[in-house]
Parts: sequence; structure tokens; C-alpha cells
Amino acid sequence: MLLEIQDIHVHYGKIAALKGITLEVDEGEIVTLIGANGAGKTTTLKTISGLRPLTSGRVRFNGDDISRMPGHKRVLVGIGQSPEGRGIFPGMTVEDNLYMGAYARSGDLSKELAEVYELFPRLAERKTQAGGTMSGGEQQMLAIGRALMARPKVLLLDEPSMGLAPKLVQQIFSIIVEINRRGTTVLLVEQNAQQALQIANRAYVLETGHVVKSAQAHALLDDPEVRAAYLGGGAGGEAAVAAAPAETSVPEAREAPDEE
Ligand SMILES: Nc1ncnc2c1ncn2[C@@H]1O[C@H](COP(=O)(O)OP(=O)(O)O)[C@@H](O)[C@H]1O
Ligand SMILES: [Mg+2]
Repeated sequence: MLLEIQDIHVHYGKIAALKGITLEVDEGEIVTLIGANGAGKTTTLKTISGLRPLTSGRVRFNGDDISRMPGHKRVLVGIGQSPEGRGIFPGMTVEDNLYMGAYARSGDLSKELAEVYELFPRLAERKTQAGGTMSGGEQQMLAIGRALMARPKVLLLDEPSMGLAPKLVQQIFSIIVEINRRGTTVLLVEQNAQQALQIANRAYVLETGHVVKSAQAHALLDDPEVRAAYLGGGAGGEAAVAAAPAETSVPEAREAPDEE
């Protein structure tokens, strides 16, 4: 197992945000966490990347207990994160933002940079532009590209589709599928549960700091409780937009017009 979260409890002051979360992510998977605002999704990702300390429980990565490892070292062992709200550096160029993703590494980064530009041609076109002048969708691409610069084994994505128009949402999901196809394991947090479940292998449902359900992602698409709570209710999956295969959707994503 690549990533194992064992019974983690995390607090903000006296407030318990995570009350015993257990989950695992196997190499090569896309796993999604779904749940309402405040369920603990962001806190779970921050605990994995080392931005929040554990009160109790354990985080294991590649078989090693990393519960007390500082965040910058977790980047080096292979945990990459694109944070909620993107967190790009607005005054820095796109390219310098990308280099920041690999600050903990040394050596030649031209190969990583070329791969990010291949995945996101829009970033290549705008590499000298200030990050803060990019559109919402482009900033999301930049946040993901920056995380990829450190060659993560697992990529943690926190609400990558937040605030984006449907067409951009589709592009971001297609790119996530492509990143996974190229060998990166993905742990995806999404409010857009429908699309997240369509691209994921497995899913966990979080409620108020607990895992209340875990299953194959496609099974949750047909789960009446999940449908009612997270998929806008209704029966049957006919309205579901099928996830486009990466081979066809990514080239389209590259040529899409500049809008969000
Ligand atoms: N910085 C913070 N200070 C205090 N409480 C927080 C903070 N961040 C999150 N929380 C609380 O922790 C719980 C989980 O939040 P979060 O992980 O952000 O949920 P989600 O990402 O699922 O919306 C919520 O009750 C939230 O109010
Ligand atoms: Mg959140």
C-alpha cells in the first residue's frame, strides 16, 4: 500500500476536525474523498502532506511511518499537494511558480519543466506572465503543474474544480486522468462528487470527521444515500456525463478557448 492513514485524530485548538479517519491509497489508483463543507477533507490532505500535526494515529507512506516527518521532507519522499485555493505566488512568473514546486530538490529540472509544459501547453504559452494575472482555470493548472515539478508518487488535489465553469471543470478532470495514466497516484478531494466518482477507482465519504462509507467509486454513483446527499438526488445514472478517455479529451482540453 502506498499511503495508509490509520485512525488519525486532528484538532484545531480544542475542536476535533478528524475523529479517527482510516483510509488507504494503493499505487496507481485515483481515490476520491467526498463530503460536505467542514467534513474534514482539507484537514485530511493537510495531515498527509504535513501541514497539520496529528493528535493521534499514524500516516504511513511506502511502508514508513511519516507521522512526524516535516512537510518539506514529505515532498522529497514523494507527496505532492495542490492546495485548496491554489496558493500560487501572484507576483512571480508562471515559470518561477513552477520552480517553487521543486524548491526542495536540487539539480537540473528541465525535464520536469518540459513535462509540465507538455501536459499544460497554456502554461508554456504564458511562462513569463505573472501568476496572479492568469485566469482561475490557468491558476489551477499552475497549482497542479507546480506540485508535479517535485515528481510526486502521490498527488493530493484539494478541490481542483472549485469556481471553474463546466468546460474548465471537464478539462481539469481530463488532465487528472492523464496524470494518473502517466503513473502518478492521485488522492482527490472534490465537491463535484459526480465527476470525481466517474474518474476514481475508489471513494471514501466523510462526515464530521469520520469516514461513513468506502466503496468502489462506480458503486457510489448508484448508492441511494450518496445520490441523495452528494449527487443532487434523483434515481438512475442516465444524466451522468461519462468521463471521456484521456486520449481523446486531453488534446481537446489543450485547444479549448480562454474562458472560465
Ligand atoms: N484553521 C482552522 N481553525 C479552526 N477550525 C478549523 C480550521 N480549519 C478547519 N477547521 C474546522 O475543521 C473541520 C474540518 O474542516 P476542513 O478539513 O476544512 O473540511 P472540508 O475541507 O471537508 O470542508 C471543520 O469543522 C472546520 O470548521
Ligand atoms: Mg476543504
